[in-house]
Amino acid sequence: MIMKGNEKLITVLNSLLADELTAINQYMVHSEMCASWGYAKLHQAIRKQAMDEMFHAEWLIERIIFLDGAPTVSILNPMKIGKTVSEIISNDNDVELNVVREYNDAIKLAREVDDQGSVDLLSKILIMEEGHVDWAEMQRAQVEQMGLENYLVNQTTGAVV
Ligand SMILES: [Fe+2]
Ligand SMILES: [Fe+2]
Repeated sequence: MIMKGNEKLITVLNSLLADELTAINQYMVHSEMCASWGYAKLHQAIRKQAMDEMFHAEWLIERIIFLDGAPTVSILNPMKIGKTVSEIISNDNDVELNVVREYNDAIKLAREVDDQGSVDLLSKILIMEEGHVDWAEMQRAQVEQMGLENYLVNQTTGAVV
């Protein structure tokens, strides 16, 4: 049987899938840690990012199957779970900067093997990852400018039970 997709690209798509599945888990834990501290806004923001990553994983699985490859969903990269809000933001920022690099590399490869459909999909995901980097940088700027305590006050919704 002739494979529809380039084998090297399918391997790269599977490694991106591992990145996404790792991010989903890391962000779910971070989002629930923020919830447990009462930082409702941070909880919602990180939860939304976990859901974005879930869509990315789903789209990658769909694409790999379309290319007649086998999606690997059993591999996770090492997690970087933060112990504080600052660590959470900084660890998630590291993840996002890394995936932006990897999506750019994957787009280059997809171009080389003339797979425009994959170029389009990977570019769509890349733009969303850049939005995640932007978000993390915004949080870091706010912490720097208003101080961690003020930043954290702004993440609560008050004493609502
Ligand atoms: Fe993603
Ligand atoms: Fe992301």
